Amino acid sequence: NPPIVFVGEGPGADEDRIGEPFVGKAGALLTAAITKGLGLRREDVYICNVVKCRPPGNRTPAPDEAKACTPYLFRQLELLQPKVIVALGSPAQMALCGEPGGITRLRGKWLSWRGVRVMPTFHPAYLLRNPAAKRDFWEDLQAVMAEVGLVRKVKSEDGA
Ligand code: URA
Repeated sequence: NPPIVFVGEGPGADEDRIGEPFVGKAGALLTAAITKGLGLRREDVYICNVVKCRPPGNRTPAPDEAKACTPYLFRQLELLQPKVIVALGSPAQMALCGEPGGITRLRGKWLSWRGVRVMPTFHPAYLLRNPAAKRDFWEDLQAVMAEVGLVRKVKSEDGA
């Protein structure tokens, strides 16, 4: 079983076309963080989304849309039994933990889903718009690596 599961928001246009999560621009950032940053292969982790269909125009899923998909998401997590879940952005955090507050305030603090540790952090699409937040994102991923007892095998690009 993959020790780490990343939960995003929902498929975008690229994901919808290809049928795989995080294969567009935000996906490239996430993949780079996993491979170059953490020294893992993409197939060493599991990546999924809160909603399984693309919201029109890439808008944030409405609460009822997220609710309609959560049984599917929860079943995925039950089967995967990850050590840690990374909630990418507010909709993922809300679907899993329902903690009130924005992601800027909640990120970096451990929450839980049915007894599994959840690390809320920024969504990769947010990092594309706000590169300065990458430092916090990276810190959160380091905490996840420490929690699952994995040691990074290669250095990140900036040598951090
Ligand atoms: N791609 C995904 O699969 N999910 C997101 O949340 C964003 C991009």
